[in-house]
Amino acid sequence: MINEIVVDKVSKELLDGLNKTPKRISSKYFYDKRGSELFDKICELDEYYLTRTEWSILSENISSITECFRDNSLLVEFGSGSSTKTRLLLENIKQLGGYVPIDISEQHLDETVIKLNQEFSGLEIRPLAADYTKPLQLPEIHGEAEQRVIFFPGSTLGNFTKSESRNFLKIIRSEIKKGDGFILGIDLVKDTKVLLDAYNDSMNVTAEFNLNILQSINDQFGSDFVLENFEHKAVYNEIENRIEMYLISLVDQNVSIGEDLFYIQKNEKLLTEYSHKYTIEAIEKLCENLFTISKVWTDPKNYFAELYLLPV
Ligand code: AVI
Repeated sequence: MINEIVVDKVSKELLDGLNKTPKRISSKYFYDKRGSELFDKICELDEYYLTRTEWSILSENISSITECFRDNSLLVEFGSGSSTKTRLLLENIKQLGGYVPIDISEQHLDETVIKLNQEFSGLEIRPLAADYTKPLQLPEIHGEAEQRVIFFPGSTLGNFTKSESRNFLKIIRSEIKKGDGFILGIDLVKDTKVLLDAYNDSMNVTAEFNLNILQSINDQFGSDFVLENFEHKAVYNEIENRIEMYLISLVDQNVSIGEDLFYIQKNEKLLTEYSHKYTIEAIEKLCENLFTISKVWTDPKNYFAELYLLPV
């Protein structure tokens, strides 16, 4: 029997990225099954303060956060994943009208919704599997709620370029009206050493996560990246206030993807991720003419912020 390997048509975006200088691979390829597991491991690392800090901000301020919700409001989460942080909201909002988790991975969404339906029986949950960086149609909820509150935690906004962020905020703004709200979780500018340690952890989990992007592309497109020929490196760009993650080529090498062949020089860098860090003023500027900042909740070290934004 012939063993048939099914590979997707190589995406134009992937090829375009590899033709840029420096070569660029979209961060969306991180999140195959192994990549999602590795990201969960990252969230538990000592050096990776983001997840636990955001969790502590949400739990310490839960009563003030739930005050933003009027009766029967609709909670809409972008990039819901396992809805881990959302459970804090679902458990504490007194009278929620419904929950719309939106995620690109249909399988992940289905698994999460089965669990949520068991835990929160009586709550109307309408999942939407979609790429939320593009305009979308929210599902109908029984007796449409008067107020919508968007939830976008985890500092995922930081992974977008400044112009992608602005476009994304415009999409969110188009989904809500005056009287609605937007809770945004974002990582703040801080001591460079703390940032570098978070993205170059001592257990090398982030390194494995970064290298796995090549495996994920090999699996999806049948390319022949050799993972051992690359090394993980995260640097902090102080001008742009962002972590930049790279894979550095350890040798001169050729990589074939579909019908294309790419030459990668020894020491050449492949850019895999930006993780922007913000100040409150920078967020204010990014939100100009779209949202105003109504409330800011943060931690004692000012590492991370949860913001309540109102549409203008
Ligand atoms: C998903 N995102 C907010 C993470 C971050 O911190 O930018 C992705 C990540 N990359 C390396 N470690 C974690």
